[in-house]
Amino acid sequence: MDRIAIVGGAPLNGVIPISGAKNSALKVMAAALLSDQPLILENMPNLADTRFMADLLSSLGVSVDWPAGDSTATLRAREIVSTIAPYDLVRKMRATFNVLGPLLARVGHATVSLPGGCAIGARPVDLHLKAFEAMGADIHIDSGYVKAAALRGLKGADITFPFVSVGATEHAMLAATLAKGRTVLRNAAREPEIVDLADCLNAMGAQIAGAGEEVIEIDGVESLSSARHRVVGDRIEAGTYAIAAAAAGGDVFLKGAQAAHIAALLQKLEQAGVDVRPQGGGVRIARANGRLRAVDVNTEPFPGFPTDLQAQFMALMTLADGVSTFKENIFENRFMHAPELSRLGASIAVHGNEAQVTGVERLLGAPVMATDLRASVSLVIAGLAAEGETEVNRVYHLDRGFERLERKLGDCGARIERRQG
Ligand code: EPZ
Repeated sequence: MDRIAIVGGAPLNGVIPISGAKNSALKVMAAALLSDQPLILENMPNLADTRFMADLLSSLGVSVDWPAGDSTATLRAREIVSTIAPYDLVRKMRATFNVLGPLLARVGHATVSLPGGCAIGARPVDLHLKAFEAMGADIHIDSGYVKAAALRGLKGADITFPFVSVGATEHAMLAATLAKGRTVLRNAAREPEIVDLADCLNAMGAQIAGAGEEVIEIDGVESLSSARHRVVGDRIEAGTYAIAAAAAGGDVFLKGAQAAHIAALLQKLEQAGVDVRPQGGGVRIARANGRLRAVDVNTEPFPGFPTDLQAQFMALMTLADGVSTFKENIFENRFMHAPELSRLGASIAVHGNEAQVTGVERLLGAPVMATDLRASVSLVIAGLAAEGETEVNRVYHLDRGFERLERKLGDCGARIERRQG
C-alpha cells in the first residue's frame, strides 16, 4: 500500500491549480442517466472516486469516453441496460447511491443497495427515500436493498427537509427534473455543488430555479437533452491548500479558487493572522513567521464553516497560540484525526462532538494513518509543519479526493514523496 512521506519545515511558494470538485462531479455524472443524449463534462477531476462512478455508470449502460488523465468526459446513456447498483459497489463509495433517483425518473424503477454507515458516522438516507415517496414512488427495503418503483412516473411534490442535507437535496433535484408537475424543495442545502448540479441540469433542459437558496423549484420536463458543462472548482481542495500554506508558511496563489465559496474559512484564517487576498482568478494566501492565534470553529451547512475542512483546520490550530474549540455539528464521529495528530505531539481533548485544541510550540514527525479522506490530508498538513519526517499510511484515502496532491505541493517547495508498496 502506498505511503506519503513529508519532511516538514519547508515553506510553500508558488501557484497551486485547483481541480474540479469531486463532490460535484459525482452528482453531475449521475445526471447523465437522465437523458439518452451525450453529456460532456469539462474540468473533471481524475480521482479514484470519479473513476469508480464512471465504472458504475458503465455497468448501467452509460458509454463513458474519458481517457486516462483527461479532464473532459463524455457520458451517454442511450439505453439503460441495468437498474441495479449492488452492495459491493455502493459500499465502496456512498455517492453511488445517487443513481437511484435518476434511474427511477428515467425508467421507473431501481434497486440500489443501502449505503450503510462509514467511518465518519451512521449517515442514513431516510431523507432521500422520503422525498421519493412524496413524489409517488413505492419504496421497499429488502435484504439491505432499496427497491423503488414509480411505474407511471414520478410526480411533483412539496417537500420540506427537517434539516439540511446536501445529498438529499441533490438527489431529489435530479429525480424531479423528469417528474410530472412542480416540485418544491424547502430547507434545501445551499452548497456551491447544488448550484453546479442545477446549472448542469438546466443546460440539459431542466427547469430549476432557486438553487443556492433555501427554496428550490423544479418544473418537470418530458425529457432532457445534450449539454456541455464545466464542473465547478473544488472549494474543499482550495480550502485545504489555503490551510496548508498557512501551516507551512510562505506565499501561495490558489488558481481557480473562488473566495465566495470558502468565505467562512478565509475569515477564520484572517482571524488567526494569515494574509488572505482574493485576486482575479484565484486567492492568494501568505503567512510570515510567527505563531498564529487560536480561533474557534463550528461546522455548519454552507455558507457556514464546512465539515470537510474541520480536520485540516484542526491540524493548523495544533500549533496556534492559545486554545481553540471545535464543534462538529454535521457528523457524529469526525474527530478520528485527533489521536493521530496527537502522535505528532498535538494536545487535543475530545468530548462528544467537541474538541479542545491547546496549541503547542512544535510538532514532531511520526508514522500516522487515517480512516477517511479529509482526516488523511489533515495529517499531510501537520506533516508540512512538523519537524522531521511524517509518513502518512493508507494513501488510497487521499487518492479518492485529491488530484496529484504530492505534485501540487512539491511544485511549491514541499519535501513530499510517494513511496510505493
Ligand atoms: C456530502 O455528504 C458530501 N459528500 C460530504 O463530503 C460532506 O461532508 C457532506 O455533504 C456535508 O457537506 C458528497 O457530496 C459525496 P448530508 P452527504 O446529506 O450528502 C444526515 C467528503 O469528505 N442525513 O448533507 O452524505 C447525515 O448523516 C464527504 O468529501 C440523515 O440523517 O451529507 C449527516 O449527519 C464526506 N439522513 C447530515 O445529515 C439523510 O437522509 C448531513 O449529511 C441524509 C443525511
